[in-house]
Amino acid sequence: MSELRRSILSSAILAAYRWKRLRGICLSIVERLEGGHFYSETLRQILESYHGVRVGAYSYGECMVPGAWPAGVNVGRYVSVAPGVRVFLRNHPSDRLSMHPFFYNRELGWVAEDTITSGALEIGPDSWIGERVIVTPGCRRIGIGAVVGAGAVVTKDVPDFAMVGGNPARLIRYRFSERTRQLILASRWWERSVEECVQCLPDMIKSLANEYSTHPLLAVAPLADKAKAIPTALTHIEDYSERNVPTVPWTDRD
Ligand SMILES: CC(C)(COP(=O)(O)OP(=O)(O)OC[C@H]1O[C@@H](n2cnc3c(N)ncnc32)[C@H](O)[C@@H]1OP(=O)(O)O)[C@@H](O)C(=O)NCCC(=O)NCCS
Repeated sequence: MSELRRSILSSAILAAYRWKRLRGICLSIVERLEGGHFYSETLRQILESYHGVRVGAYSYGECMVPGAWPAGVNVGRYVSVAPGVRVFLRNHPSDRLSMHPFFYNRELGWVAEDTITSGALEIGPDSWIGERVIVTPGCRRIGIGAVVGAGAVVTKDVPDFAMVGGNPARLIRYRFSERTRQLILASRWWERSVEECVQCLPDMIKSLANEYSTHPLLAVAPLADKAKAIPTALTHIEDYSERNVPTVPWTDRD
């Protein structure tokens, strides 16, 4: 079975979406026919072609709402995005006489080209972004498996597996020990389909902490990346808790 679903109306809907009046109906048809955010291939094509946002398989939430996020965002696979998350990829130019968009945004008709540049944002696979998070242009990357707590204002990059929160967002703790983080990164499990992952469902629904893990997805690298295979099937997952560390900017701790 393919990871994403594509209906026979896909090409027609993709073409019809160019008419703004038809957008609402196009979206409700593809969501209904293709299994919603998790699985819809056409919705991903609409996001990429018309809105400049790329979203990987199984990701869902605000990143899948056309027009909610600016062009230049690249979302990995298995990403969870809560409602109300906002992403900003450029600031008004605070060093100029005027910060008004008349003087930097070509769409308003006064300048031939945009006179400020827009950044990009990479959101790593299996990350989780909580409700009403704001990501400012200072952040270019939210790491693999990272957690951004509800209401955070993220002003810089979030490392892989970090849990951050607050305004400005700061490290709360890492989800796993350094060794476990390396094992997960090497496994690249998120490149697998959900059908493959549920083959080891008992392991998928267990905590990784405080045990000798025999999780099959950590023991065997994906076929496409055999060079990074972990040699042993028995992987020690250490007890890990950074709950007692002071909350400081994560760049100081990394
Ligand atoms: C970030 C989050 C995952 C942490 O959950 P947790 O591991 O259970 O952490 P705790 O509640 O034990 O809090 C740990 C510390 O982080 C702080 N913290 C928790 N959430 C925070 C947040 N959103 N912003 C800032 N700080 C936060 C707590 O105050 C606590 O600080 P302390 O150790 O100084 O007392 C959770 O609080 C959160 O924000 N979840 C998002 C919920 C959401 O938006 N869901 C949408 C549906 S997809």
